[in-house]
Amino acid sequence: MIDLNSFQAPMRVAVIGASGGIGRAFADLLSQSSDHVGHVYRLSRQPLDGHVHIDLNDEASIKSAAEKIGHDGALDLVINATGLLHEEAQNITPEKTWRHLDPEVMAAVYHANCIAPVMAAKHFLPLLRRDGKSVFAALSARVGSIADNRVGGWHSYRAAKAGLNMVIRNLALEMALKAPDAIIMGLHPGTVATNLSAPFRGMVKHDIFSPEESATHLINVINDAGQGYSGHQWAWDGAKIPG
Ligand SMILES: NC(=O)c1ccc[n+]([C@@H]2O[C@H](COP(=O)([O-])OP(=O)(O)OC[C@H]3O[C@@H](n4cnc5c(N)ncnc54)[C@H](OP(=O)(O)O)[C@@H]3O)[C@@H](O)[C@H]2O)c1
Repeated sequence: MIDLNSFQAPMRVAVIGASGGIGRAFADLLSQSSDHVGHVYRLSRQPLDGHVHIDLNDEASIKSAAEKIGHDGALDLVINATGLLHEEAQNITPEKTWRHLDPEVMAAVYHANCIAPVMAAKHFLPLLRRDGKSVFAALSARVGSIADNRVGGWHSYRAAKAGLNMVIRNLALEMALKAPDAIIMGLHPGTVATNLSAPFRGMVKHDIFSPEESATHLINVINDAGQGYSGHQWAWDGAKIPG
């Protein structure tokens, strides 16, 4: 059960990465909440029916998607649900030791998890409504917390998410001057049963969520968010994650 009563209805929402496990669950849940949500734009790199094309590796495509959506009016909520942990084609897998560090893998992981969502922010923050609550939420990860890091490993992914968390803080500070009701936040979804987590779920000792369970938790965190949330990372259970 999701609640969106802190936003003005009817909401206009954009989900970037709507072909992914968590992104699709966000888009489906928000589309079903027809009493509060007027329109959900699904943005994907894959050519899917009803989706707006976006490739976060290509700024022209981000700009064009934002222009297309901005033409219809302001947005109440933008969720960036893109990211990368492993990819066979590029030989990307999280490093267990410094001996596995490879500059090309580091650059690709940094691009996917920090630069790409930040470029989405560059073009979608200007679309947020200015006359009431609006939110830009980027999927980050608890492992991007430096203070919370007690086990090490996964060097590139951790560093990229830490970088994303830093830019979220910067964007929030800049946005507060322009639009005091706009909130820019990072989200940790928990461990979620998607392609991204598939090779690593065997070692997890806590609960594993379905994408729908995780997105339900996170929508309620987004609904609870007030100005004190901007610039920080929040977990699925509403807890603030240290920087
Ligand atoms: N699953 C977990 O347990 C977990 C835990 C902590 C944090 N997270 C974070 O949650 C977010 C969503 O993860 P997920 O589990 O839903 O993963 P997923 O199912 O693999 O989805 C990732 C999505 O990102 C898209 N994407 C990647 N690079 C892109 C680009 N350059 N342009 C456009 N789209 C791009 C993918 O599109 P394609 O389909 O075109 O590749 C896909 O839709 C990620 O940021 C991840 O780091 C997940």
